[in-house]
Amino acid sequence: MYLSDASQQRLDLLAEQSLKRVLLPCPLDQRQFDFSSNDYLCLSQRSDIVEAGHACAKQYGAGATGSRLLSGNLDCFEALEAQVAQFKNAQAALVFSSGYQANASGLAALLDKSLWSGVVGGTEPLVFTDRLNHASLHHACQLAGVKQIRFRHNDMAHLAELLSKHIESRQPKIIATETVFGMEGDLLPIELLAETALQHQAVVYLDEAHATGVWGPQGRGLGAIQHPAIDALKALGHWVVMGTFSKAVGVSGAYIACSEIFKQYLVNRCTGFVYSTAPSPFVIGAVAKALEIIPDLNTERAALHTAAEQLRAQVHELGFDTGLSNTHIVPLVVGSNTACLELKSHLQQAGIRTSAVRPPTVPPNAARVRLALNTGHSAKVYAQLLQALANWKVAA
Ligand SMILES: Cc1ncc(COP(=O)(O)O)c(C=O)c1O
Repeated sequence: MYLSDASQQRLDLLAEQSLKRVLLPCPLDQRQFDFSSNDYLCLSQRSDIVEAGHACAKQYGAGATGSRLLSGNLDCFEALEAQVAQFKNAQAALVFSSGYQANASGLAALLDKSLWSGVVGGTEPLVFTDRLNHASLHHACQLAGVKQIRFRHNDMAHLAELLSKHIESRQPKIIATETVFGMEGDLLPIELLAETALQHQAVVYLDEAHATGVWGPQGRGLGAIQHPAIDALKALGHWVVMGTFSKAVGVSGAYIACSEIFKQYLVNRCTGFVYSTAPSPFVIGAVAKALEIIPDLNTERAALHTAAEQLRAQVHELGFDTGLSNTHIVPLVVGSNTACLELKSHLQQAGIRTSAVRPPTVPPNAARVRLALNTGHSAKVYAQLLQALANWKVAA
């Protein structure tokens, strides 16, 4: 069979299941009607951030010219990492070109059997993962060749039960989860997680992709809150926090904030760091500016959270199910893939852009239209969205 025939066959199967994806244009002049963007604070369009990116590229060049371990270790990277460490209240930070890369290779390095084999009683680590974790976290487990012990979504009692089953085991224990779940739009009960992890001396790996800039003190993420169990885990070096620069920060790339010693381990053993060209200096300059601005945006964050609460109440009145959402991400859970595509297309016709999220991104029969709110959505746009949703309900 030829590759093109095999590809066509696979695409036909996806289309039959309403699972085929296509690339659609994203005109810039329709950004205010876009509920599919993760630019939660609208920073991607801020001129001071774009200019800071230009200035950094002018000074250092368009590209980094190599891996940081070869020719690419420009001092702008070191400066940004110091800034990120301070932003996250961590000892150190390491930057990556994308969040997927940071998770897939950073978590895989944490799960690497050779990291733990030197520890007394240590061998292959036991990894406890939330059932709804992002694909990049699953990929990391596959890459490391470890079997995931999955706990029910955000269910800390279930996590504790699973950890207790292994209480006698001297294998290292690692918990990997997200602080704001990108498709559910709900928050991790972080204090409970930290207390549970501390009881079992587990290492915590947090993905703050959707929290960075929007949640936690001054938008520093939930991992930056003050709590005795978090402080104790940090003191043990068991608090590893990943986040992206691609969503509320408005640029691209990612960080892992951690202890200095674990950073040095990643510099040596994290494949996505060692074998990849460092991010473009444009990205570094723009991110540095955005991180300077973000702590001062409390008013914008409060407005975003209020808008989300109001929208949830309004769509509930119309009979929509928003699942577990309690953040700026509001899914309209419709169940079937076809209903999901129909609702997305209905909203598109009304001028509102959304994402149709279907399996395998979410579990089977849990397809949803995802509304990601941002600070640029006006009252008029919300009214337009609600009118279109009301029309859909009337027609249904
Ligand atoms: C929870 C989570 N982690 C990681 C990523 C990957 O980040 P990036 O888009 O920067 O590669 C995403 C992006 O969708 C995400 O939602």
